[in-house]
Amino acid sequence: MDSNYVLPEYQNRGVGKFFWAAALKFLDLSKDTIVNVATFNENAIAFYAKLGFVDTGKCFTDERYRFRSDANIPQMEMILRASRVRQGGCVKVSP
Ligand SMILES: CC(C)(COP(=O)(O)OP(=O)(O)OC[C@H]1O[C@@H](n2cnc3c(N)ncnc32)[C@H](O)[C@@H]1OP(=O)(O)O)[C@@H](O)C(=O)NCCC(=O)NCCS
Repeated sequence: MDSNYVLPEYQNRGVGKFFWAAALKFLDLSKDTIVNVATFNENAIAFYAKLGFVDTGKCFTDERYRFRSDANIPQMEMILRASRVRQGGCVKVSP
């Protein structure tokens, strides 16, 4: 999956969480799951944190997203560790 976008008028109504529940059917949660998020996207960072992802501290840019102006989007890596997932697919969000 490359991107996850919910139309603004439907945000904060559980749609993103619904997508995540659907993705859980395809993801191998016995392995770590990684998402890349724009470092300035506070909403997405909070959303993934709520799902149990944590910042790995790794920051980078991806040449696929370089603009004609030569600007690029700074990204950060967040990880959902396999060890934080219970059998049955429920994600532990408390430390
Ligand atoms: C990020 C995004 C996918 C989240 O989808 P959403 O439908 O708004 O999220 P949900 O309503 O399902 O929220 C799920 C949980 O995350 C929390 N959450 C969502 N946005 C949050 C925010 N900005 N701050 C804090 N918590 C947030 C919700 O409170 C909810 O928690 P709960 O389970 O305790 O109720 C959506 O806001 C979006 O498409 N944003 C624009 C595009 C984007 O940035 N995509 C990500 C690119 S990597």
